[in-house]
Amino acid sequence: MASVSGIVTTTSFCILFFISCLLSASSEPLERPPIVDGLSWNFYLTNCPRLERTVTSHLQKVFKQDSGQAPALLRIFFHDCFVQGCDGSILLDGSPNEKDQAANIGIRPEALQTIEDLRSLVHKQCGRVVSCADLVVLAARDAVSLLGGPKFAVPLGRKDGLTFSINGTRNLPPPSFRTGKLLDTFAARNFSATDVVALSGAHTFGRAHCSTFFNRINQTGTPIDPFLAKNLSKTCPTSQSSNTAVLDVRTPNVFDNKYYVNLANSQGLFTSDQDLFSDSRTKGIVNSFASDQKVFFDSFADAVVKLSQLDVLTGKQGQIRAKCSVANTKKEGLVVTSVVEEDMDLRGHI
Ligand code: HEM
Repeated sequence: MASVSGIVTTTSFCILFFISCLLSASSEPLERPPIVDGLSWNFYLTNCPRLERTVTSHLQKVFKQDSGQAPALLRIFFHDCFVQGCDGSILLDGSPNEKDQAANIGIRPEALQTIEDLRSLVHKQCGRVVSCADLVVLAARDAVSLLGGPKFAVPLGRKDGLTFSINGTRNLPPPSFRTGKLLDTFAARNFSATDVVALSGAHTFGRAHCSTFFNRINQTGTPIDPFLAKNLSKTCPTSQSSNTAVLDVRTPNVFDNKYYVNLANSQGLFTSDQDLFSDSRTKGIVNSFASDQKVFFDSFADAVVKLSQLDVLTGKQGQIRAKCSVANTKKEGLVVTSVVEEDMDLRGHI
């Protein structure tokens, strides 16, 4: 039979354990960055509680077959959010459309299909309650953690837009930008130099087409490791070659901090990458990320959460698409729209 003191010790341990769980649960939100009105950390808690598990387990299977879809999904997220906000506009079909614009060179169709597959899975499970815009964010978040990067929470509750913006794709920075222009482009959307260096660390995996870095092969501007230049010139006989090179020569398929080690060795692929190590405003940040992966991971997660909230539609704005590539017709049930759009308006569909 258990002694009285044994029972007391076990009971005290249970109480202490329970209190410490409560404390850590209640302190967690304090560590999280502020979020915009309408988004929340547990948006689908009641109407789609298994959402995040479903997304993660589907992506695990997808990446097992094709790990290249992870960088592809992360880039889709950036290109969605930086053009007219995180509203799923990059997913919309149309002729012309956002996906086909020059700045979106190399967007992988199979990764767009993965977002649609996730939508179909999740809508089967919960009904049409989860937006494609939220699925883009969740997929990007999981792409990072499943390939070795940081695990972090993202706020949810975005609605899908009704329109896309061809002109908006011109806001995406080109790879030929030096640091000054890069910082200006991001500062206009409230991102700091640390955010820019951290977000550029997304180029720690994935690939790029010859036309995007051909200027680096023979140029005298930003320094390039001669051995890398020689290899790149073999891969890209001309700027129009359809070949690709890896963005991170050290660990091309892992989300880690080796991208910054590459920069310190003149092995960045784009001018916009390599110049971060030449410019006095960003060099120190590159060095700090190269020497401490945790510092990079924390800054990256913060910057992604920030990026994921750019100009979001919430509450009664926008809609939840029944198919990610088309805005809903009246029959499919429009939620309500208060979208202001510039050049390409799909409201004719409604
Ligand atoms: C800082 C300015 C940036 C520039 C100039 C830039 C430019 C580019 C370019 C030109 C490519 C190659 C596309 C191709 O040829 O297929 C690329 C790939 C990529 N970018 Fe960026 N990018 C920037 C920021 C970002 C950000 C903020 C993210 C995400 C947070 C990101 C994620 C990626 C990823 C993961 C790839 C590889 C895609 C794949 O393998 O399919 N980039 N980027």
